Amino acid sequence: MDYTSKIKKLLNSRQFKELEDIRTAIAQKMEESLYRHSIQTMDFAVMLAFKHYPDIYSDKDFLYKVCISALLHDYGKILEKQDLLDIVSRNIKGLSYFEKTCYACLHGYAAPFLIKRDFGINDKDIYNAISRHTTGSCNMSILDRIVYISDKLEAGRNYNNIEHLRKLSLINPDLCLLEVYKSNIIYVISKNCALHPDTSRIWNYICGGYKNVT
Ligand SMILES: [Fe+2]
Repeated sequence: MDYTSKIKKLLNSRQFKELEDIRTAIAQKMEESLYRHSIQTMDFAVMLAFKHYPDIYSDKDFLYKVCISALLHDYGKILEKQDLLDIVSRNIKGLSYFEKTCYACLHGYAAPFLIKRDFGINDKDIYNAISRHTTGSCNMSILDRIVYISDKLEAGRNYNNIEHLRKLSLINPDLCLLEVYKSNIIYVISKNCALHPDTSRIWNYICGGYKNVT
C-alpha cells in the first residue's frame, strides 16, 4: 500500500518537504535495488506505525522519525567497505573490534554520521533506530522495533516463512520481533558468518519481552 497521501496529510509541510528532498537525493545516490528496498522499508514501517502506535494521528514527530529512519537505514551502503571503515574509525567512538570489522554491521554504525553530514539530521532516536537495524539491541524503542522488523519484512523480501512473519507483524509485533530476530540468527549461521557477540544477550532480552496474544 502507498502511504504517501496519508503521510502528506499528517506531517507538517517542513517535515514532508524534508522527506521528499531526501527521497529525491537518495534516488540519485543509490543503486535502483537499494532505493526500492529503502522505499519499501519505509512503506512497511509506516504501515506498522499506523497499526501499532496509538498516537500516530497526533504525533507528527514520531511519524517523521519512522519515515526518515526507515528511508535512510541503509544509507551507509552507498559507500564501499574501505570508506565505511575510514568513517567509522575516524568518527564513531566506542565500537568493539567486531563491530569495526563486520561489514554487514558497518553501514548501520556509519549512517548516523553520514545522515548528519549529508542531510543535517541530528536526532538521537533516528540515529539509534538506524544503528540498531542490523544487530538489534536490548531495550529497543518502538521506533527501533518498527525499523528492524520492516527492513526484514518489506514487500521486496522473499524467503521461507516470510508471509507468516508479515501476518504476525500485524497481530503481535513483540512476538514478530522475536521470530524475525531468530530468523536472522539462523540466516547468519547458515552463511557461516560470525554472530555479533551480544546476540545471545539480545535474544534473551527479546524473549523476555514478547507478549503472547491468544
Ligand atoms: Fe535494509
